[in-house]
This record gives sequence, structure tokens and C-alpha cells, in this order.
Amino acid sequence: MDLFTPVALGSLQLRNRIVMAPMTRSRAGSDAVPTAVMVDYYRQRASAGLIISEGIAPSADGLGYCRTPGIYNPAQIEGWRRVTDAVHAAGGCIVAQIMHVGRVANALNKPPGSRTVAPSALRARGEIYTDQQGMQDLDEPHALSAEEIPAVIEDYRQATENAYAAGFDGVELHCTSGYLPAQFLSSGSNQRTDNYGGSVANRVRFPLQVLQAMAGVDGAERVGMRICPDNPFNDLQDDNPQETFEALLEGAAELGLAYLHVIRFPRGRVDNIALGRRYCGDRLLGNESYSFEEAQGAVAAGELTAVSFGRPFVGNPDLVERWQAGVELAEFDLATLYTPGENGYSNYPRADL
Ligand SMILES: Cc1cc2nc3c(=O)[nH]c(=O)nc-3n(C[C@H](O)[C@H](O)[C@H](O)COP(=O)(O)O)c2cc1C
Repeated sequence: MDLFTPVALGSLQLRNRIVMAPMTRSRAGSDAVPTAVMVDYYRQRASAGLIISEGIAPSADGLGYCRTPGIYNPAQIEGWRRVTDAVHAAGGCIVAQIMHVGRVANALNKPPGSRTVAPSALRARGEIYTDQQGMQDLDEPHALSAEEIPAVIEDYRQATENAYAAGFDGVELHCTSGYLPAQFLSSGSNQRTDNYGGSVANRVRFPLQVLQAMAGVDGAERVGMRICPDNPFNDLQDDNPQETFEALLEGAAELGLAYLHVIRFPRGRVDNIALGRRYCGDRLLGNESYSFEEAQGAVAAGELTAVSFGRPFVGNPDLVERWQAGVELAEFDLATLYTPGENGYSNYPRADL
């Protein structure tokens, strides 16, 4: 068994275990609609066993970065349909990563009338790029009232339904990196005194209700979740991430998710991969700085079911074929990671194999 061995994760059929990690690339249209270059980019990478899309907002409130896509209106669904059709025509499998940024946003990157929301009215320290005015402070968020939370959960449910209507094979809940679910989980960003804050049982309530709603659309076997316990990204801090994530994974275990996608974080207080193995060892994706050799070893040893790769896929649309043929990988250009258009995005060549 190795990275080239097919595997089923819930209802997802992977022809190999080389997964493309979710990567925001800021190529959407100004109305958060997928563009033609995005169709090319994903089609080119369809030999991955599974593509996890860039983070996609379930609502206008869920947008925060410039030129990022949504999946909450018909034009967006239609745009994503072109992407999934292209990936499927090339024999690939693709899930939509549903990403609500919560407080990690600036109003300049969002449509008029949308809000920046969070569990508590605590601004994250940090800046975010805007096309209009360069780097800007993150917004001071509106604290969601208990009455408003069900509507946010409903946005995730509807986004899941929309993702299936757009042809995605599954969905992944983005539950790390300082975005909305992680803001609820973490004691630093969640200072609520109702039943969504305080105790660990209360702090895991929001992400678990979101997962339930997503699984309610067409079963948990089409739903994955991405975590990185103790990840401090975007001003996140939790008093006891081990306890928090044990409670989250215990709750999620009852659902029977398609997969758990774990970013390792050796500098943190939790052994993330070991934790993932405890709760979801037979459907575990590992990520973060894996080389081909290390990933091969982890899959062969049964430590991971599959491995996701982010940066290697940027400059190597044919990453799977290159590794199969033992061909050296291409570098990529950092300067064009988030710039509009095809340059540094869908114009990386395939290797001449
Ligand atoms: C340009 C870029 C954009 C990213 N955007 C996202 C994202 O939208 N959602 C997410 O969960 N992770 C995102 N990540 C993190 C990657 O999924 C991955 O965890 C990271 O690149 C480490 O894996 P690697 O060492 O194989 O690159 C992004 C990473 C990069 C480089």
C-alpha cells in the first residue's frame, strides 16, 4: 500500500492518496463568482486522488479576503458547476471547502450590506490585504446573538446543498486557522456567557451543530473536517486545545465523517496526528510540509490514510505524474500566489514525461 493505491473515504472514491490541499488563490470575480481561469487550474490538477477546493464562503458575511469565491447564489453555483464538470471529465474527485472567516475580514473585501461576525466582539490583531487600500486592520466584529446563530448554521447547510447542486463530490468544514468555527472553539476569541461559550461542551457546540447540518443534507459520508489543534494563526489562542479538540472529535465521531484532515503542528501543545489517529485513524488525511518520501512512509505504515499537499501543487499541475515518474518538481513564484489572472496560476506547464 502506498500513495498510488486507491482508497474510499466515506462515499468519496480516490484513485490515489495524493490529495490537493485547499488553497485560497484570489482568482474569483468581484462578485465572488468562480472565473474561467479557475476552471483551467482545477482541471489541470485533476489527477490528484482528491482535490479540496480553496475556501468557499457560505454567505456574504463569510467572505473576508479579496477576490475569494462564494457558494450562496445561482451565479456562483453555476461557476462552480463548470469547475466540477472539468474535474470530473478528467477523472478527478473534488470537495468544496466551506470557509466562513468570521472576524478575519475587512469590509473592503466584502459586498455592501454584509457584516463581519464572530462569537464575541473582539477584534483579532492583524492586517489583511485589500485591493482598494492595501493592508488594513481586521474589522471589529459584531458579536452574533443567540438568535442569529441558527441562521449562520443554516448558511452552512444551504452551502452544502448548493455545493452538491454544483456537482461537488463532498464538502469539508474548515475548522481551523482562526476562522469562525475556530473562533467559537477557542477560549481567547469566545467569551460568550450563553450556551455557545464558557465550558468546553459549550464551545464545541457551534462547530458540531454546523457539522450536523452539513451531514443532514446527504449523509456524513460526504462530509470531512479540517483541524489543527493549537494553531495560533489569526490571533487564535485556547487555554487547553487538547481538551477542546478531544471534545470536538468525540462529538464528531458520532456522525461518522468521510474523513478527518489534520494539519500537524509540532510547535504546539498537542500531537495533532496522534489525536487524529485516536478518533479517525482509518480515514485520516495528514498535512503540512510532507515530502513525497515521508508521505509514502506514513501511508505504508498505516499512520495516515492519505496525505494532502498544498505548495507542491502550485507549480506542478501534474504532481501525481511527476512523482510516479520520479521527475523533479518545479518551483513556484510567491509573488503571484494571490494576484488576479492566469499568470502564476493556470500557466504552470506539465513536465515533459
Ligand atoms: C497560497 C495558500 C493558500 C491557502 N489557503 C488555504 C485555504 O483556503 N484553506 C485551508 O484550509 N488552508 C489553506 N492553506 C494551507 C494549505 O492547505 C496547507 O495546509 C499548507 O500549504 C501546508 O501544506 P504544504 O506544506 O503541503 O504546502 C493555504 C496555503 C497556501 C500556500
